[in-house]
Amino acid sequence: MSSQPAVEVQDLRKEFIRRDGGGGVRHRRRRKRVAALHDVTFSLTRGECVAILGQNGSGKSTLVRLLSTLLQHDGGSAHVFGNDVFRRPRAVQRLVNRVSVEASFFKRMSPAENLSYSARFYGMTPRQSREAIPRILERVGFPPERRGEPMEDLSRGMQQKIALARALLVAPVLLLLDEPTTGLDPRSKLEVQGFIRSIREQHDATILLCTHDMAEAEALADRIGILHEGALICLDTADTLKRAYGAETVEAAFLAATGRQFEDEKEDE
Ligand SMILES: Nc1ncnc2c1ncn2[C@@H]1O[C@H](COP(=O)(O)OP(=O)(O)O)[C@@H](O)[C@H]1O
Ligand SMILES: [Mg+2]
Repeated sequence: MSSQPAVEVQDLRKEFIRRDGGGGVRHRRRRKRVAALHDVTFSLTRGECVAILGQNGSGKSTLVRLLSTLLQHDGGSAHVFGNDVFRRPRAVQRLVNRVSVEASFFKRMSPAENLSYSARFYGMTPRQSREAIPRILERVGFPPERRGEPMEDLSRGMQQKIALARALLVAPVLLLLDEPTTGLDPRSKLEVQGFIRSIREQHDATILLCTHDMAEAEALADRIGILHEGALICLDTADTLKRAYGAETVEAAFLAATGRQFEDEKEDE
């Protein structure tokens, strides 16, 4: 059990159909299959935190959505704690928790109500959840007097913390964090990052962190992967990446690896 990887992805492939508008003078419309992910292979050991860096459109969310059973794949395989993601989605759903930019909650319901809904989904008894929920909310530093307020009245940073707290109802857990701090103000961002770090120390959690924030990747992750146009071009420690690309910083290594400016958005042609 302990030697079993938390995540094992082999030659994973996902294609989307893209309709070309034809653009400009020629009004020919074509439909072509575009690989959003091709032949992605990697594994995570239990307890590890791996960051995936990639510019917009590189396939980060596609990878996260495949691993959380929200998308069908077009080739290869993926296992989470030994469970085949595409053949046993139910088992995988109980082990995986996705925290994305837009955390999904019942917005009119309180944090405590949202957590108890999830606890039921994860098969906790009412007694277990009565005990676990206040403990988790306390650990997130959530003010007790606000537990009954609707989610929609809370700040984005606070909502993100509740999203992470929700992920901690079960163990072991694979946390799939899809740009968890994008759009947060600097203070909330640091708080959420601090919380992610404390989760690692206190909980049986394995983390896949997709981000385009290099400092965040370096601060939180054991290894950093670079996803470029759907291909995972490397996955190693920050120091090894820097050495491999003769770079002083992770950012410089990223630029060398992808051969383009990070701010450049991928243009459809
Ligand atoms: N549902 C979809 N239909 C068609 N194309 C999609 C869909 N989702 C993603 N894509 C395409 O797949 C590629 C990867 O997207 P995504 O995984 O969202 O990247 P990232 O999260 O790194 O920004 C992009 O080219 C995007 O346009
Ligand atoms: Mg994305």
